Amino acid sequence: MALPDGFLDELISRTDIADVVSDYVQLKQKGGASYWGLCPFHSEKTPSFHVETDRQIYHCFGCGKGGGAINFIMDIENLGFMDAVAFLAKRAGMEVPDSSASDEAKSRRATMLELNRDAARFYYAMLSDERGKTAVEYINKRGISAAMVKKFGLGAAPNEWSALTDAMKKKGYSEVQLVDAGLAKRGKSGGVYDTFRNRLMFPVIDVRGSVLGFSGRILDDGEPKYLNSPDTAVFSKSRNLFALNLAKKSKLGMLILAEGNIDVVSLHQAGFDCAVASLGTSLTEEQARLMSRYTDKVVIAYDNDGAGQKAAQRAIGIFENTGISCRILRMDGAKDPDEYIKAKGAEAFSLLLERSENHVEYRLFAARSKQDMDSPDGKMGYLREATAILSTLTNEMERDVYIAKVASETGALPDSIRSEIKRLINARRAAGKKKEDRRAMRVDLTSQPEARELKYENPVSAAGEEGVIRLLMKDPAVADKVPLEEKDFTSPFLAKLFSIIMERIGGGEAVTEAAIAPLLTSAEASHFSKILARPVSAAQADKALVDYIEKIRSAKKTEITDDDALIRFSEKQKKTKSYGG
Ligand code: CTP
Ligand code: MN
Repeated sequence: MALPDGFLDELISRTDIADVVSDYVQLKQKGGASYWGLCPFHSEKTPSFHVETDRQIYHCFGCGKGGGAINFIMDIENLGFMDAVAFLAKRAGMEVPDSSASDEAKSRRATMLELNRDAARFYYAMLSDERGKTAVEYINKRGISAAMVKKFGLGAAPNEWSALTDAMKKKGYSEVQLVDAGLAKRGKSGGVYDTFRNRLMFPVIDVRGSVLGFSGRILDDGEPKYLNSPDTAVFSKSRNLFALNLAKKSKLGMLILAEGNIDVVSLHQAGFDCAVASLGTSLTEEQARLMSRYTDKVVIAYDNDGAGQKAAQRAIGIFENTGISCRILRMDGAKDPDEYIKAKGAEAFSLLLERSENHVEYRLFAARSKQDMDSPDGKMGYLREATAILSTLTNEMERDVYIAKVASETGALPDSIRSEIKRLINARRAAGKKKEDRRAMRVDLTSQPEARELKYENPVSAAGEEGVIRLLMKDPAVADKVPLEEKDFTSPFLAKLFSIIMERIGGGEAVTEAAIAPLLTSAEASHFSKILARPVSAAQADKALVDYIEKIRSAKKTEITDDDALIRFSEKQKKTKSYGG
């Protein structure tokens, strides 16, 4: 990751955050340098998303996301740091710096993406050509609107052996390039022929807007129903999702996972613009993780047949691993979302979405299938898990229904299941309250970062560490009076911040949030923003500094005595244990 000297500073000075954000969020100016809008990272009705052009930062008071323009692009375009820099550099008309990939590999990828884009244009143009007539008829038959054709960039692969190949060759692409991109195949005689023939074409576009590959749907009842591009240097079926480029912009606050591309188009057409589909493979972990970057709520709307329902069950397990809470949508009287919406309307589908079954039944099923239900141990294991699952239900009536079910499955008495569930609920409540009490006690010290990986081990010291950082940012001259080193910081994140700031001050560089945030992860930048948002009085700076340093030093001392106490305690425990056997 070698950026030329001064490149970032130049980029930042040429980039206005309000300008960048405005491409995604409608901002309203409130006072000179202050803008507000609806947060693009979570769904909300009143604006809590704030942009400050003075400090060149954004912050959402609702979801806590924040940082500079680079962080914003990383988050919203789902890019890594270097890609976000390249994205903004391009926008600012600067020469894009080189990243690590070799030039040759990079230009091969770039050419392939260009070829894919040209191919998509070709297929799209075929819709207004005699050779795309059958595809157009099919589009009409399926009731796909012109707006959707355009939005998805649908197209037609003519019923010919080399329509695309010929057109692309004319544009200067070679046969090798066409084969490499999966758009053509080499025949026995050595010549090449089009991979996609007589199909309705769906370009697969990633979240950056690059055309990675295609799915082609057959226009009659032939097989396979969908033909997908093979994996290439730019395309991987298991790592991408159809329509994620569109769904990521949805305001619905969830993603709907469907089976067929037609279902996805149909859902978008009905206003459910958060629909995606996996590309022929059953859902992979990578796809689930990709989705988890945009939402923690997924509704599975697979086909209503055995295969679809089985695939849905598999998907639940995968989503659970990524922290997504998923629900299954069950459609009565229709085989898939497309048919359901056509038969009953968008309104009805919307109700289905609201009611979509929380997946209790599936979770019980999963718990049951782990156990040998013929043995008492197995039954007990299942009961333990089942009561835990049911204790998360808030609706008592719903709980009763499942209690009856579990009772009949295990032979346990409904009343004893019910009292076990009550016990679990009470225990959780008590634990929750304790946690709240503890948090309330800490609140005056510091607020813990939201991201788990940044949590402070020593909140007292961290409060002092944050304070020092705030003072340094306010007035770099304070650096001379700070007798601390990186190792005095208990939080690795704050230590890193401290060293970045001190290094910049030492080198005479600017210590603005906008300059530093890009060096941080998005979670770090977000908390950095919060640290700086807290008030600091320049007049009291000297006294505050002394307080902060004292806090850091004394927190260390208590930590040591705490350790002593801990050792004594554990020794005592050991003794009691050995007596007890
Ligand atoms: N599929 C695929 N490649 C894609 C998308 C889907 O191979 N890019 C597979 C899915 O795994 C599923 C089937 O094709 O098994 C999709 O079926 P279906 O939902 O019936 O597709 P639709 O286009 O909605 O078909 P229909 O016209 O019957 O509604
Ligand atoms: Mn379908």
